[in-house]
Amino acid sequence: MKKAIRGSITERNVAAAFANESMTVSRYSFFSKIAFDEGLKPAGDVFAEIMEDEKRHAATLFRFFEGTSVELKLTLPMIPAGKTSENISNSIKVENTAWNIRYPEFAKIAREEGFPEIAKVFDNLANDEKLHEGRLQKAGKPQ
Ligand SMILES: [Fe+2]
Ligand SMILES: [Fe+2]
Repeated sequence: MKKAIRGSITERNVAAAFANESMTVSRYSFFSKIAFDEGLKPAGDVFAEIMEDEKRHAATLFRFFEGTSVELKLTLPMIPAGKTSENISNSIKVENTAWNIRYPEFAKIAREEGFPEIAKVFDNLANDEKLHEGRLQKAGKPQ
């Protein structure tokens, strides 16, 4: 039988990651529209495509919900909407924190708590966020 995550740190980390991913879906949706409005179709496309990945990330985390509720101390990035160049550079920082700090830490804790499947999900998310950072770096360079 699968170990229940209820009451674990990993349960809180799954919830925090889900909140973060869900927020990112909204943010990238806004940033995509701003880029299209500025006539920057390639950047708009990049934000829209990455948004779809973040939506998949949220859906993957959602699979581990067990019907309880958790109280969190959350640190969420309150990035204001700016011009596309600013939206790209701010998003690069957020992606970097996700793959460099948050998800490796969450994966480590999940392994320590005996949730290898969830640890693997966090590893995969870290890989994707690293790719996102690369795509945004490229989108931020002058064409
Ligand atoms: Fe993500
Ligand atoms: Fe990402």
